[in-house]
Amino acid sequence: MTTEGGDAVGRPQAEPSHSAAIAALLAGAAALGGFLFGYDTSVINGTVEALKSQFHLNSFVVGLVVSSALLGCAVGAWFAGPLADRFGRVRVMQAAALLFVVSALGSALAFNAWDLTFWRVVGGLAIGAASVIAPAYIAEIAPADLRGRLGSLQQMAIVLGIFAALVVDYMIARVSDGGAAGEFPWGGTAWRWMFASAVVPAVIYGVIASTIPESPRYLVKKRKLDQARQVLLKVTGRGGDVDLKIRDIVRSLTTERQVKLSDLRGPRLGLRPIVWVGILLSVFQQFVGINVIFYYSSTLWQSVGFSEDDAMITSVITSVTNVVTTLIAIALVDKIGRRRLLLVGAAGMAVTLGTMTVCFATAPVVGGEPHLGEVAGPLALIAANLYVLFFGATWGPVVWVMLGEMFTNFIRASALAVAAAAQWIANWLITVSFPGMASLGLGFAYGFYALCAAIAFVFVLRDVPETRGRELEDMDQLETPRVRA
Ligand code: GLC
Repeated sequence: MTTEGGDAVGRPQAEPSHSAAIAALLAGAAALGGFLFGYDTSVINGTVEALKSQFHLNSFVVGLVVSSALLGCAVGAWFAGPLADRFGRVRVMQAAALLFVVSALGSALAFNAWDLTFWRVVGGLAIGAASVIAPAYIAEIAPADLRGRLGSLQQMAIVLGIFAALVVDYMIARVSDGGAAGEFPWGGTAWRWMFASAVVPAVIYGVIASTIPESPRYLVKKRKLDQARQVLLKVTGRGGDVDLKIRDIVRSLTTERQVKLSDLRGPRLGLRPIVWVGILLSVFQQFVGINVIFYYSSTLWQSVGFSEDDAMITSVITSVTNVVTTLIAIALVDKIGRRRLLLVGAAGMAVTLGTMTVCFATAPVVGGEPHLGEVAGPLALIAANLYVLFFGATWGPVVWVMLGEMFTNFIRASALAVAAAAQWIANWLITVSFPGMASLGLGFAYGFYALCAAIAFVFVLRDVPETRGRELEDMDQLETPRVRA
């Protein structure tokens, strides 16, 4: 029985709209990790040319410096899961914030390429950890009916981070004497300030992470039922349901021991089918080539006839498109569901990437570069932006939402860590293979991504279960024609 304005035992409880606002605030705080994820992965873009001249590097070595951080991300993601189960979600956020600060300062003060690589890998550990902890925490504090929207804040933060790094790099280069390789007004070389700038969001992340409560699912796991109850009361505002919820969470955590990797095992192919679904969602999210558009956009736009100076503007357009399209996902993900968005996205990306493939494969090569004509040029440009739209409104946010929510409470952190680590390895594979694939022809590269998008469509249709509106405690009953959790 509940009393008016209070829970079953008369304690005051939050109004529904008030509690939704609290859940959104907590989700926003955790999503700051996503902002750092975006910021730290892309801040290096503005420094690349300056690094080449400062440390006398060729493109190959710079490529190694840039991509090595991605492997650090995979390691960070892998360990974040077990650490989050042991020490808590908030502790992992604080540790990641510290690593972000140390890596930003170390990179800013680097004295050679290897030193820089080391600090970038340290930053990668933090990025990987943040990429696991934000979706897990958000899913664990969000009420089921808002979970997709709040989970999408992670992607919103990632793309805002990418955008902010672009703008900050640009501004630092502008005020410096001679661009990224020039002298910054406060002293030192401009590229060093680009890396140092990441200290600001990292400190904010650390401070804010220290003010938010632990996730209720983690608290129940640690038998801190009273604290779990208080957090649930704040974010759901429905007193009577809270006790029931706690009982459900306790039921879903059938054992008190630490999760081991062997807990992810299933009858076939070594892992539980649902863990494979998570890994494949991650891998396809990368194999459709989105980060090639971000990391190598100038190659694309210059072959469409843009000058190098215009590359900045086109990168800004791509980033803004990505930010705006995330709003579409936020509006739709809890209404029409995850599966539909993924299906529309995969189909849309297959068609737009297919269009780019045809444009590039049929373009005459002049001086080793494809030259798109008056028809194929604008067509490729439109297709590329529509492709970013499809990705930003579907696979970008939805994969992070699903990774946070699709696993049962018991295996969530570990399974999410494995899937996210797979995502970082896939990101690395796509990034390092692009220059080689592009040398065979851009049509070849885009053709491969188009094929992956088409396969992703079939995969979603056959194997990806719908998670919309379902309580985290019921994720063990997920089903599709072929997959059972
Ligand atoms: C998703 C991807 C990430 C990518 C971003 C771009 O978050 O996981 O790799 O950079 O989308 O929108």
